[in-house]
Amino acid sequence: MAESFEDLFDKIVNLSKRRGIVFPSAEIYGGFRSTYDYGPVGVLMLRNVKDAWWRSMVQLRSDVLGLDASILSPPAVWEASGHLANFTDPLVDCRSCGSRHRQDKLDDPTTCPTCKTKGELTEPRRFNLMFKTNAGPVENEGAVAYLRPETAQGMFINFANVLNTSRKKPPFGIAQIGKSFRNEITPGNFVFRTREFEQMEMEFFVHPSEADQWYDYWCKERFQWYVDHGIEESKLRLRPHDDDELSHYSSGTSDVDFLFPWGWDELEGIANRGSYDLDQHAKHSGQKLEYFDQPNNERYVPHVIEPAAGATRTMMAFLMAAYDEEIVNDDTRTVLRLHHRIAPYKAAVLPLSKKPELTGPARELLATLQPHWMVDYDETQAIGRRYRRQDEIGTPYCITFDFDSLEDKAVTIRDRDSMDQVRIPIPDVAGWLSEKLV
Ligand code: GAP
Repeated sequence: MAESFEDLFDKIVNLSKRRGIVFPSAEIYGGFRSTYDYGPVGVLMLRNVKDAWWRSMVQLRSDVLGLDASILSPPAVWEASGHLANFTDPLVDCRSCGSRHRQDKLDDPTTCPTCKTKGELTEPRRFNLMFKTNAGPVENEGAVAYLRPETAQGMFINFANVLNTSRKKPPFGIAQIGKSFRNEITPGNFVFRTREFEQMEMEFFVHPSEADQWYDYWCKERFQWYVDHGIEESKLRLRPHDDDELSHYSSGTSDVDFLFPWGWDELEGIANRGSYDLDQHAKHSGQKLEYFDQPNNERYVPHVIEPAAGATRTMMAFLMAAYDEEIVNDDTRTVLRLHHRIAPYKAAVLPLSKKPELTGPARELLATLQPHWMVDYDETQAIGRRYRRQDEIGTPYCITFDFDSLEDKAVTIRDRDSMDQVRIPIPDVAGWLSEKLV
């Protein structure tokens, strides 16, 4: 294990760079303000995080439907949602060194945390976190558009569309995964807080009398999702918000927190939003956003329970929870003990030598596995170094094609966690893997 938590943070950042998981964006130009690019290994892992969420939240349920709404939206949406008025942070400037800070995050509100000068911080100004842009060639008020700061509003403004086209009735949900943008004043901690990030959100519409019970249900479900995908329970907690922490729309919120190197911090919020959003959009759009329960002759505005998670932030938590080091033969082995569903590659095919008599049939085996899973292929360096490389990116199984394979038509499969090896006939490899990767 990494010696300390700070140490773990640096190790994850270095590993991410070294193994193509996450690169600082625009690095050849000196980088660009807390933006990151997901490399060849990272893009697979991020997709797996999103797929695992979609699988649990949409595929395995019959009461949640998917949506992919636009990122650009008109001011009317954000006027109605309350974001134009309320989605702000209190910002102070230091007259001495010119640095900017969030007032609510200062340990001492009279002292600049950058240059330590006392009494030089300005009065706080409200700073709206939304990115404003123009749609079309003319820059006037009528062309103003915003990059969405959350995916949630896409679900609310499509509530009637989904209801009318799906034959669903409450309780039912609409789920979406996508990019969101916030002009954070203090981004940082690697991909934990960035200005461009991905969210995985679901709005669950229920009868008002059932809101509390569904809120409890989703708090438990979402906590369990992280446990089921390999994070130890001791590194997770469910934390109900105090009343003074609640967002402008929420009558109850709990966070799923992860024990990051700097302490407990939020992975996901589960909020009881009441009828706030549908009421607001009904008022501002003039459209009816309600449900008519014909058998009971009851018309009502559903209440909403919202589990809202960050995909990029969750990926970082999975990396930290999975990171491990152990001494093997006087050497440190770094291994990402990722859940197989989250692991970038499920297996790697490694011919023992570069000789065509081995690489030919090894590639044939690879071709039989690729339709089912992401499988890496590596014929460079000594086999021990190739195993270490796969351990570092969390590949659960390494399949070695050696000279005996030509005779016995079998390969050796090495388990990432135990390093145990088994000999499996080549025609059985796909079946063996599908049993292990259930
Ligand atoms: N619709 C409700 C909503 O957006 P939120 O707590 O502001 O709630 C939900 O965001 C999740 O999105 C957070 O728990 C976090 O995982 C992720 N998130 C929010 N801001 C982020 C940022 N600047 N960078 C990375 N992830 C972020």
